[in-house]
Amino acid sequence: MPVTAVIGAQWGDEGKGKIVDLLSRRADLVVRFSGGDNAGHTVVNEYGEFKLHLVPSGIFSPRAVCLLGNGVVINPAVLLEELRLLKGRGIDTSRFFISDRAHLIMPYHVLLDGLEEESRAKKAIGTTRKGIGPAFSDKAARLGIRVGDLVDREAFLERLRSILEYKNLILTRVYEASPLSLDEVYQSYCQFGERLAPYIKDTIIILEQAIREQKKVLLEGAQGALLDPDFGTYPYTTSSSPLSGGVCLGAGISPLSLNQILGVFKSYCTRVGEGPMPTELQDETATLIREHAHEYGTTTGRPRRCGWFDAVAARFSTQINGFTAVCITRLDVLDILPQLKICVGYELDGQRIDYFPSSITTLVRCKPIYEEFPGWQSPISDARRYDELPAAARRYVERLEELISCPVHLISVGARREQVIEVAEVL
Ligand code: IMP
Repeated sequence: MPVTAVIGAQWGDEGKGKIVDLLSRRADLVVRFSGGDNAGHTVVNEYGEFKLHLVPSGIFSPRAVCLLGNGVVINPAVLLEELRLLKGRGIDTSRFFISDRAHLIMPYHVLLDGLEEESRAKKAIGTTRKGIGPAFSDKAARLGIRVGDLVDREAFLERLRSILEYKNLILTRVYEASPLSLDEVYQSYCQFGERLAPYIKDTIIILEQAIREQKKVLLEGAQGALLDPDFGTYPYTTSSSPLSGGVCLGAGISPLSLNQILGVFKSYCTRVGEGPMPTELQDETATLIREHAHEYGTTTGRPRRCGWFDAVAARFSTQINGFTAVCITRLDVLDILPQLKICVGYELDGQRIDYFPSSITTLVRCKPIYEEFPGWQSPISDARRYDELPAAARRYVERLEELISCPVHLISVGARREQVIEVAEVL
């Protein structure tokens, strides 16, 4: 399929990095379209283990061009450090470019993210404190500074002067924090601009040409559908859309150009940060999963909340994304469990419901209704064909497929690139 989007279908951390690393071997172009360095994509391949936050996981492909689209917010210090580390480990970054339309994360965004979280106290969202929310707020408020602005230093200084004056008022008068120095911010961002100059492009031109020439394009999602600001568990969400619809806005691509939308689901659920998660477990099964699967945030190191697969949320995710195929990741993590559960409905005030409520005050009252399955309790990481999976594992996957109503094309059975079962060709 020429144009394929890889979308996180739950609360992020579904293992998209590994899937993009695998598929990008066959791609000509890999584009990230949303989020910022709040994302953490772990990739294990022949070069070693990498934790990427901004650079697309396609960077390891020997031929793919990698782009950060206009919909990504870029912290230039983080990006330059990531590029330095990649180059230091022998990875070729010469085919990597960033959109001149992408917005920059400025030092006041990071400061304000932390200060806003502190002021929310018990109602904190549990953000990654990377400045993501404040940067997207400024984009909408037309107070943002874009990558392309760094090229014209005089215009950049004027814009920064007026924005920083306003931000310093908020920092000092609302939060009683120290103001930022115009000169320091200006000088450091001019230096970032110089170092980033070779990477800055109008990425739309590259993307349009690739699509016209029928090249294989992979759109790399960040975060997950249930963190979407419109359809997720608002206000416990992120600030840009991780959905398939976000691809069009964040990369600059027509909806008609999308051929395949691959939804990536973990075989159970995890969530970092606050907000409702109906199938969350607070018992030893959660601890077992967390420790066995090392469910700790790639970006913040926070322990991830763990729970059973939520098919109500999964159906909702499939509906709003229009998945054409599904990937189930980390199936091997369930090897250790004697019994498994899938949430097939919610009980709300004594009634069974099958939909994902729009309001979190309703969602917190929903109690999961479970179907139970026997575990397989044998290692599956060496399976490469579907029929090599134990019968109980196949039954579990087939029930997921039925509940999600979307064909499973990929099953990941380990962290390494080759630890995957391709049920059907994806790219
Ligand atoms: P923010 O995106 O840093 O503003 O954080 C908002 C919410 O999204 C918090 O609950 C974060 O933990 C969550 N979040 C943001 N990025 C990711 C991610 O890549 N994986 C999982 N959760 C994320």
